[in-house]
Amino acid sequence: MHPGKYIRRIASFMMVFVFIMTALYGNTLTPFAQQGDIICYGDVDENGHIQADDALLVLKHAAKLETIQAGLPAALADVNQDTSIDAEDALEILRTAAKLIAPIPYTGGSGEEPPAAGKTLVVYFSATGNTKEVAGYIAAATGADQMELTPVNPYSAADLSWTNPDSRVVYEHNNPEARDVALTTTTVPGWDSYDTVFIGYPIWWGIAAWPMNGFVSANDFTGKTVIPFCTSASSGIGESGTNLQELAGTGRWMEGMRFRSNASEETVQEWVNGLGL
Ligand SMILES: Cc1cc2nc3c(=O)[nH]c(=O)nc-3n(C[C@H](O)[C@H](O)[C@H](O)COP(=O)(O)O)c2cc1C
Repeated sequence: MHPGKYIRRIASFMMVFVFIMTALYGNTLTPFAQQGDIICYGDVDENGHIQADDALLVLKHAAKLETIQAGLPAALADVNQDTSIDAEDALEILRTAAKLIAPIPYTGGSGEEPPAAGKTLVVYFSATGNTKEVAGYIAAATGADQMELTPVNPYSAADLSWTNPDSRVVYEHNNPEARDVALTTTTVPGWDSYDTVFIGYPIWWGIAAWPMNGFVSANDFTGKTVIPFCTSASSGIGESGTNLQELAGTGRWMEGMRFRSNASEETVQEWVNGLGL
């Protein structure tokens, strides 16, 4: 193909592409450019944002080539300003276009690298083993590490007798100040290496079993995706996840999932696969 035709085709493609991008997204492209996220590498002018300016820059480059056809000063088509109009200029336009369409890690304008893809942790409290079982299924499905939270003073069967007004759980339920249950540890070895944390607990009286509170309060979830899950006899997850999110104060918390007490591995796997992790 004649070089002129080649260049014309590229320029036309670029004009259409950029007009569509601008019409579709305009100045609303910025939210895609979160530091650390994997996004389109569209920050053409490298100012830390993807916005209409970037599309405009590509358009300007394409327009420079168009000027050849329009009989305007040819110097305008010298995209790389090396005083000659040649395939290098066309290539420069292609490279610029590629920046808009090739999905590669975004490093932003600061030069700061996004965190390396992190590991997944399943941290859970389980008084009678049901949540522990589900935690194991999640860990198997995701290749995650696991950490069980254990109260310094573990709950006996008698402690858990919620039908007995004199039991420990009933006392703690009726006296919220008594729900601050000490855990043997709230420290996760290698905490910074995890970017996804599943948080599992049984439902007690419609809320998350309170031994979980101490863990979420004690840790900084900044930069982590947090996915709550729970087991219960019949109650839904309710506001247990959002309550924990408020206690934590940090992290990107996703909507959680409730499983019945004896949930099957298949059910749990299906949910995990649907999370798109
Ligand atoms: C103190 C206590 C309160 C409970 N409250 C509820 C409840 O409000 N709704 C419900 O569906 N199940 C309730 N359950 C049942 C547990 O949520 C369920 O058995 C859960 O799977 C236990 O998980 P675990 O074996 O990991 O401790 C309660 C159990 C206990 C011991």
